[in-house]
Amino acid sequence: MVPPALLGGYLHPGHRRRRYRNYRQVVKEEVNVLTTAPRGTRDILSPEVEKWQYLEDKIRQHCHRYAYSEIRTPIFEHTELFQRSVGETTDIVQKEMYTFQDRGDRLLTLRPEATASTVRAYLENRLYAQPQPVKLYYIGPMFRYDRPQAGRYRQFYQFGIEVIGSQDPSVDAEVILLAVHLFADLGLRDLEVHLNSIGCPQCRSAYRQELRAYLKGHLGKLCPDCRARYEQNPLRVLDCKKEHCRQVAGQAPELSSYLCQECREHFAAVQEYLESLDVKYQLNPNLVRGLDYYTKTVFEIVSRELGAQAAICGGGRYDGLVEECGGQPTPGIGFALGIERLLLALDKGGIELPGREPLDVFLAALGSKVQAPALKLLYQMRQHKLRADKDYLGRSLKAQMKYADKKEARYVVILGEEELERRMVLIREMATGKQEEVPLEQAVEIILEKMGGVADGK
Ligand code: HAM
Repeated sequence: MVPPALLGGYLHPGHRRRRYRNYRQVVKEEVNVLTTAPRGTRDILSPEVEKWQYLEDKIRQHCHRYAYSEIRTPIFEHTELFQRSVGETTDIVQKEMYTFQDRGDRLLTLRPEATASTVRAYLENRLYAQPQPVKLYYIGPMFRYDRPQAGRYRQFYQFGIEVIGSQDPSVDAEVILLAVHLFADLGLRDLEVHLNSIGCPQCRSAYRQELRAYLKGHLGKLCPDCRARYEQNPLRVLDCKKEHCRQVAGQAPELSSYLCQECREHFAAVQEYLESLDVKYQLNPNLVRGLDYYTKTVFEIVSRELGAQAAICGGGRYDGLVEECGGQPTPGIGFALGIERLLLALDKGGIELPGREPLDVFLAALGSKVQAPALKLLYQMRQHKLRADKDYLGRSLKAQMKYADKKEARYVVILGEEELERRMVLIREMATGKQEEVPLEQAVEIILEKMGGVADGK
C-alpha cells in the first residue's frame, strides 16, 4: 500500500524518501504507544506480583505490631502543597513533578512522595484532635520525572510511615527500628543505617553561612547543579554524588559542630536508644537528604549491592512541616522505602520470596453435558477454600492434563459424560500418578482429606 503521505503532487525523489521515513517513524511510534507502557513505568505480573503481595503482607504485619494504622491519600494533590513542603529549590519540585492543569484550571501534581499528603490529611481531618502521636503508614505509587535506570522509575512504589505529634527521641529510634526489623525479618542483613542530625532552622542558619563561605573558594570544582545549589540551598551540595563535589564536600565544615544544645542532646538520645536496641548505625555528616522539610534526625538505609541507587529507605524528622502547612507547631518523623529497590536488594542477596502458588485441583471436564455440573463442583471446591480451576477452551483430555501439569496442580479431577451418568469422578494425584474413582458428591471431602483436612485458602 502506498503511504497516504506520499500520494498527490510530484516530489523530488529525495523529498519523497524523507517523507516516507517520517511516515514510517510516525507509524512505528503509534505502534509503540499502543503496546508499550510510558518510559519509566511497567506492569507487574505473576509470578512477580505474588512477591509484591507477600512483601505487602509482611509490611502490614509489622505496621500492625508497631501500632500504625493505614492512610490512603489521593494520588494527586494541589501543586502548592509540594512546593511549600518538599521545597521550591529541590530537584523534586524543580525537575521531577508531573504537574497538570485540570479542566477547572486547578494546578495539580501526581504525588512525588506522601509525607506532604499525610500532613495535609492530618490537618484536614483534624487528626490533631485525636490522642497524640498519630501513627500512620501507606503503601502506594509515587511519580517522579527521573531518568529511568535499574531501581529508578517514573512510577514507583513506596511503603512509608509517619508519626505526627511527638518530638521524643525514642520515636526516632523506633521509626528506624521498624525498618531494620522488617529488613531483618525478610532476611536482608548487609544493610547500613546512615545517621545524621541537620539541626533546627536556628543552628542550621549559622552553619549555612559557614558552609557558603567555605564553598565560595571551591566553586570552580563544583558541578553546574551544585553551583546553583550554592546560591539557593548550599546544604544540598553535601550529598551530591559527583566525584568532584564529593571531594569538596568531604573537606567542608561539619554541621554537627554547629548544633545547638537542644539538637545535640536530642541526637545523643536517639543514638543511645539505637544502641540499647542493638541497631548498628554509621554517623554520616554529609547526609542531608533531598527534601527541604527535614529537621534534626535524618537517616538512610543503604545496600552496597545496589550500586548507584543504593538508598532503599530514607527519612527523618520534620518538626516544622505541620506549621508550614498552616497548623499549630507539631513535630513529626517518618521514612519511606522504595519497594522496587527492596525487591532488587532481596534478589541480589539471593533471597527468594514465595511466588505463585500452584493449583490444588484442576477439573478436567469433558463434553458439553458435563459443563454445568463441573461448574457446580468447582464452586463447591472454592467454597471449601481450594484453589481450583478448569479448562475453558474445550481442549482434549491430553491437552487438559498438560495444562494441569503446567499449572502445577496437585490433583486432577476428571469428569466425563460416562462418569457423570454414574455420578462418579476420577481423582488423580499428579505427583504419584495414583488414580481412584470416587462418588461425585464426596469428591470435595475426599480431596480435602488427602490434603490433610484443610486447604490453606489464602
Ligand atoms: P525519598 O528519599 O525521596 O524520601 O524516597 C524514599 C525512597 O523511595 C528512596 O530511598 C528510594 O528507595 C525510593 N525512591 C525514590 N525515588 C525513586 C525512584 N525514582 N524510583 C524508585 N524508587 C525511588 C521520601 O520520599 C520522603 N517522603 C521519606 C519520608 C517520609 N521522610 C519522612 N517521612
